[in-house]
Formats: sequence, structure tokens, C-alpha cells
Amino acid sequence: MDDLLTKENLEYRAMAREIADKHVRPVAAELDRTAEYPWTVVRALQDAGLMGVWIPKEYGGRGGGVMNLCLVVEELSKACGGVGVTYAVNALASFPIIVGGTEEQKQKYLPDVAQGKTLMAFGLSEKASGSDAGSLTARAEKRDGFYVMNGDKKWNTNGNSATLYSIFCSTNPDRGGRGVSAILVEKGTPGFEIGKKEDLMGIRCVPVHELHFNDCYVPEENLLGGKEGHGFKHAMMTLDLARPGVAAQALGLAQGALDLAVEYTMERQQFGQSVASFQGIQWMLADMATKVEAARQLIYACARAIDGGAKNVSKMAAMAKVFATDVAMSVTTDAVQLFGGYGYCKDYPIEKYMRDAKITQIYEGTNQIQRLVIGRSLIKEAAAGQPRTQSAEA
Ligand code: CAA
Repeated sequence: MDDLLTKENLEYRAMAREIADKHVRPVAAELDRTAEYPWTVVRALQDAGLMGVWIPKEYGGRGGGVMNLCLVVEELSKACGGVGVTYAVNALASFPIIVGGTEEQKQKYLPDVAQGKTLMAFGLSEKASGSDAGSLTARAEKRDGFYVMNGDKKWNTNGNSATLYSIFCSTNPDRGGRGVSAILVEKGTPGFEIGKKEDLMGIRCVPVHELHFNDCYVPEENLLGGKEGHGFKHAMMTLDLARPGVAAQALGLAQGALDLAVEYTMERQQFGQSVASFQGIQWMLADMATKVEAARQLIYACARAIDGGAKNVSKMAAMAKVFATDVAMSVTTDAVQLFGGYGYCKDYPIEKYMRDAKITQIYEGTNQIQRLVIGRSLIKEAAAGQPRTQSAEA
């Protein structure tokens, strides 16, 4: 299935695979146990020039788009889902600058993100605002050349390793979602504190924190795009670009678990033969492999459509996310089953894949929200008389 990949795609994949083999797989279990941030991996990605794959060339990146971002995330996640998201979250948090930032903001921040000197985090969710992302209670009020921020953020991935945060808050509570604005907040700004670290089921090497803002004065030039009220739209546009990356994380996990399951069932002897020689096991492996390949093709098609400048990519991004992450949960669960009792204990690497996969069905929009996005798109397209088979308008 490599035929559709370009020379550039194959090069990115090879670079990421080498880093995954050399720097990620050997430490994945240890990172899971200690919940430590994978600094050595980030340094290897920096050295290979992979930290800015998705960032346009004019801002110091490699201009590799969403497709090459997905390939890197897939390879890293094949070895460790936590490392995959550690990397992908920089894309999630820098996409708001790419889609909505002023020229000055792009010039100021993106080159350092591209080099991996600046790590980023994305602050949309709050304790009481998850799926209903427009109902934020964090506030920013304009005063004397500053935005004064107050409120709290929840589920901030990369929480304490980031140095730059895209924070969504309300600059006009009377306008609901239309009163949301994004503000770029630098670590160390007085009044900005990193709070409680979550003790997670999976992706344990990524620090996920609460963030607190108490009369935090941020210069007004840090308002994303320089205009209030565009934050919700920028968040949605960002998620359209970032959801294929979560899908790629799920794909990597599913492929990694499948590879281990094939290897194990070929080695494991029962009734005088390898368990892989039983037809029932082969059928399980066949279904797993088919789902993984279907997910891969959907993700790549979506990423290519985005990079090709397609409009209305929300539906396809949601389809890629929902399909690949459901596949990841089912394939990693089946992989645990194929390992039998050994699959359920930490002596073997497989149970971690199942734990890491679960979050992909939840973050960057639960899979119920993805289905809502797909359903709404279908109805909108039908109402507009658009052909139902059209995937994304070029
Ligand atoms: N692109 C551009 N604009 C968009 C858009 C898109 N994809 N989707 C919606 N909009 C615009 C609409 O056109 C509308 O504009 P107007 O106000 O001008 O009419 C506006 O946004 C509101 O749209 P909706 O009425 O559709 O909004 P809604 O309140 O019904 O919400 C939703 C829609 C899809 C449910 C949305 O709230 C959503 O995606 N929720 C999930 C949020 C989410 O994914 N959170 C995860 C955060 S990241 C994370 O998980 C943590 C991490 O660090 C990894």
C-alpha cells in the first residue's frame, strides 16, 4: 500500500520509524511506569528536524502538511501512544496560530515551535465545558493594553512541558460562542499557574494538567488574529486539522498491537502447534489487519484532501477520527485477547496499547461528538442539494 505515498512521505516515515525504533520502543514501558516526559525523544525529533513538519516553510517549518504530520505520529504511536500525543499536541496547539494568527504572531512564535524550542499546549476544555466547547467560563477583559485573564482550564495536554499556550476564553460572555477569543499565553506570565497533574490510565508520559488564571495580564497583541470573538471558529478550524492526527495516533497503536499479536501467536505453542495456525486465530488477525488498513486509507485520504486545499473537511476529519479510534480500541482489545493471560499483565507490552487507545475515543472531541459533526454535515449537504458521495470539496 506504499504506492500512493510520495518520496517525501516515505522519507518522513523512515525518519520517524528510526527514532521510534531507537529512542521510543526501548523506553516505552519505563515512561509508562514513571510517567516522565520523554525529553530524549523530543531532542531526537529536534535533531532530525521533525518538530515543525506541519508548519509552513515561510515560518521556519518543513511545509509537510497534515499528511506528513500523520505519518510521523503513526510511527511514534506504533512504539508508544504517549510519545505520539506528546508530539501531535504541538500541532494541535500551533494550528490556531496558523489558521488565525496575525502575520506578526506567526513570525514571532512559529519558527521556535518548528525548531522544537517552544513546546505548546491547547487550552479549550474546562471542568464544566467539554463537548459544549462554546460554554466557556474563563474570562479575559481588556484593560490598559492588556487582557486580564481569570478562570481555569482542564485536561491541558503537555501542561507543564509547554512554554506557550493557546488559551480559549470569553471576551464577551453575552455573546456565548461568538464571544470566545483565543489568547497566546507564555509560561511564567504572572497570574498564570500550572495546577494539578492528572493520574491517567494511559498515555502516561504526557503531562496533563489543570491551568489557573488569576488576574493574569497578557499583552493585548497576544489576542489571536487581533480581533475578539473569533476564538470558537478558530478552535473548530484547528480541530478539523488536528483530528486526523489523533486518528493517526490510533492507527499507530492499532498497527503496533497487531504486529505484536501476529508475532506472539506465531510463537505461542498450544496443542502441539502455534496458535496462529488455528483458523479461528487467523480470522481474528485478518479482521484486525483489514480494519487497520481501512483506517489508514481513510486517514491518508483525509490528510491529502486537507493538504490539497479542500474545503468543508470537518466531516472527513471526524470520519477519520471516529473510525480509526474505534478500530484502535477494538484491535488493541483483540490483541490483548490473543495474548491470553499474558496480555493482561505488565510483563508484556500489549496491555499498554489498550490503555493508550482508550483516550483517542475521548479527546479532541468524543466519538459521539464526531458522529454529531458527520450527521450535521450530511443533513447540511442534503439540504444544499450536494451529492451524498462527495467527500470534500476541492
Ligand atoms: N470551521 C469553522 N467554523 C465552524 C466550524 C468549523 N469546523 N464548526 C462550527 N463553526 C462555526 C459555525 O459556523 C458557527 O458560526 P456562527 O456563530 O457564525 O453561526 C459557530 O462555529 C458555532 O457552530 P455550532 O452551532 O455548530 O456550534 P455548537 O455549539 O453546536 O458546537 C460542536 C459544535 C461540534 C459540538 C463543538 O462544540 C465541538 O467540536 N465540541 C467538541 C470540542 C472538542 O473537541 N474538545 C476537545 C478539546 S482538545 C482536547 O481534547 C485536549 C487536548 O489537549 C488533546
